[in-house]
Parts: sequence; structure tokens; C-alpha cells
Amino acid sequence: VKFLELVQQRRSVRRYAPEPISRKDLDQCIEAARLAPSANNEQPWYFIVVDDRQAIQQLVAAAMSGIYATSRFVKHAAALVVVITEPGKLSNQVGSRFRRTHFNLIDIAIACEHLVLQAQELGIGSCWLGWFKEKAVKRFLKLPRSARIDIVISLGYPRADDQAKVRQRKTLDSIRRYYSSQ
Ligand SMILES: Cc1cc2nc3c(=O)[nH]c(=O)nc-3n(C[C@H](O)[C@H](O)[C@H](O)COP(=O)(O)O)c2cc1C
Repeated sequence: VKFLELVQQRRSVRRYAPEPISRKDLDQCIEAARLAPSANNEQPWYFIVVDDRQAIQQLVAAAMSGIYATSRFVKHAAALVVVITEPGKLSNQVGSRFRRTHFNLIDIAIACEHLVLQAQELGIGSCWLGWFKEKAVKRFLKLPRSARIDIVISLGYPRADDQAKVRQRKTLDSIRRYYSSQ
């Protein structure tokens, strides 16, 4: 499959079949993330893979309730990849401040997209998740309070009735223009 086809095929999958994902395939997804570029090559990420059914249930109960209940669909996922965003070296933090951006967030986003595209190639559905109770995830994983979790990725084989929707995207013409000097 050509790269653009892979990108076209990828969509957020929120209904999962019960099949587990092998650790070999999970490792391949993390491997794709590992190779992502990052500002100053700092690789400010760490991935905790939760692929135990009971642990997923507990994590969802703790972190996806109340205002976060819209994320409860991930309780049927075969695995959750909790992405720890590290602050990066001081030089990068200073650089981010100076440029008024967050290079570490850009970095983890690239790594996460590598991860989900690799999953797609393996036939594994995924969904980026930004809506969860971060504190509860940290408590569940026994991480220090200072840890940052911006994104969790759910993974699972798509359920047969999880149909692809029509893609809602801005048109190419509306998002791109070529620079012209006149
Ligand atoms: C940073 C980020 C955070 C997201 N958070 C959530 C989320 O909390 N819950 C959810 O159902 N989808 C979430 N999504 C998925 C988007 O809703 C989805 O990518 C978008 O609607 C486009 O649809 P598609 O992925 O099927 O092409 C998130 C995506 C990104 C990139």
C-alpha cells in the first residue's frame, strides 16, 4: 500500500473487536514512534502500553468518568498507549519559551502519528485521545504528579460494524496557496 493510501485509510476507530493485539505488533507501533523526528533530537516521550483487559477497565473507570465520559468507548480497546510528554532539556524549554511554542508537544504529536499509521498498516484501528482525567491516569500508573500526559492512544481491531464515515476535511484549495511575489 502506498503512503497516501495508508493516510487515506486511517480514521479514528471507536468500536473495537475483542481480539487482542500481539506484543510484537504493539512493539512495531512503538518502534515507528521511536523513529520520529524531534526538536534537537530530544525524543521527549515515553510510552506505557496497557494491554490487560482488567487494567483498561480500571483505567477507564478512574479517568473517563464525569465530564470525560465521552471517552468511555476506549474501555473496549485492546490496548491503551499512554504517552508521557517529557519536558525536554533546558535548552529546548528555553527555546520553546523564546519562540512561544511547545516543541515537546510537536514532537510527541509526530511520534503519535507515526504510531497510528503503523497500526493502520497492520490493520489495527486507533483513536487519539486528549479528553481524560490526567491526574487519575497518573495515579493509576503510579507516576509522579509532575508527569505530563497530553495524549492517550487507543488501539484495537475495528469491529465489523464500525463503518468508515465520509471524511470531513477542508479542501486542498482552502488550506494551501503557493507564494507568489506579485
Ligand atoms: C490531539 C487530538 C486529540 C483527540 N482527542 C480525541 C478524544 O478525546 N476523543 C475522541 O473521540 N477523538 C479524539 N480525537 C480524534 C479526532 O476527533 C479525529 O481525528 C477527527 O475528528 C478526524 O477524524 P478521523 O481521525 O476519523 O479522520 C483527537 C485527535 C487529535 C489529533
